Amino acid sequence: MTYNFDKITDRAGTASVKYDLRQFIFKNPDVLPMWVADMDLETPDFIREAVVARANHPIYGYTFRSESYYESIINWLQKRHNWKVEKDWILFSPGVVPALNFAVLALTNPGDEIIVQPPVYFPFFTAVKEHNRHLVYNQLQFKGGKYSINFDQLEQQAQTARMLILCNPHNPVGRAWKKDELSRLADISIKNNLLVISDEIHADLVLPGNTHHVFAEIDPDLDSNTITMHAASKTFNLAGLASSSVIIKDETLREQLKTYISSLHVDMGNLFGFVATQAAFEGGEVWLDEVLDYIAANVEWANVFLKQNLPQVKMVVPEATYMVWLDFSEFGLTDDELKEFLINKAGVGLNAGVDFGPGGEGFMRMNLACPRKTVEAAFEKINVAFSELLF
Ligand SMILES: Cc1ncc(COP(=O)(O)O)c(C=O)c1O
Repeated sequence: MTYNFDKITDRAGTASVKYDLRQFIFKNPDVLPMWVADMDLETPDFIREAVVARANHPIYGYTFRSESYYESIINWLQKRHNWKVEKDWILFSPGVVPALNFAVLALTNPGDEIIVQPPVYFPFFTAVKEHNRHLVYNQLQFKGGKYSINFDQLEQQAQTARMLILCNPHNPVGRAWKKDELSRLADISIKNNLLVISDEIHADLVLPGNTHHVFAEIDPDLDSNTITMHAASKTFNLAGLASSSVIIKDETLREQLKTYISSLHVDMGNLFGFVATQAAFEGGEVWLDEVLDYIAANVEWANVFLKQNLPQVKMVVPEATYMVWLDFSEFGLTDDELKEFLINKAGVGLNAGVDFGPGGEGFMRMNLACPRKTVEAAFEKINVAFSELLF
């Protein structure tokens, strides 16, 4: 490996949500934080150097997105996902979550039905509810340790819903949806004129042996019914730089959203976000391939550890993302008891499964984008605490 992912970097005192809000979030400042989706692995040197080089110019005035910024995104999507995108299709948003909210506000009306597929990234719920749209759950099915879409239910729901927010790949259950699954979804979308917002922020975090399929590429008839959201932020650990892309081929749909975003004057963006995004997409392939191997090895280590030491906890092995979805239901604790136990007895800060909606009961989400020693420490803590509970 060219990069040393074993290095532990102290993040405390950097206004880090993960570390410096532990007291606020967990009421315990000492938990080992394995929750919010950013990495404890350092943002790679070539990105830091690009940011520092720009920071060394002493004026940080108004800026715009350069041709080379757009080229870096276009080339990346072509190289990594075989997706040919044109510059005009790319809109800017300060984040994928803001973009989801813009799409809901610009393209649906109060009272419209919007489908989400829980257990899923919880800002999907607020993007619907906070704007007085009607949340419709197409809950994922969980059978034999594997998640799938309930298409029979979706066929019905799509008849009256206006929009579906797809998590592709899926956080927290780690599915990299297969082509046949997305084709079925595409058919439903086209037949019912159901607008699909495909959140592909985890597209580049597909673990070795799996493939990401861009939803918009599944069927040309999807063009007027699909919006893709993508960013370098999750992949290269740049979440604090607030930059993402919204990609829409269809001109009418694009203009609708573009007009809305422009009217809010939030598309100026952040100088350092642009520099970092471009550096990531221009030079990131080697680092990314290595980090994916490292994360996959962390997942494998954790899975073996659980099987050997704490088989009551079942891991849903992810195909994508750096999150693992852990089933603690065998202990028979309520969700409140489980949360309290993990925070105060085990001393680890995880995301409670119930926060991801129906189907999250008894589960916890754990972030493994960290040095191996941190993963080991977290699982040791969990193992010791449950061993005391069991004996
Ligand atoms: C599915 C998904 N979408 C969006 C985000 C966050 O996007 P942003 O920080 O660009 O708003 C996350 C972060 O974990 C995520 O998992």
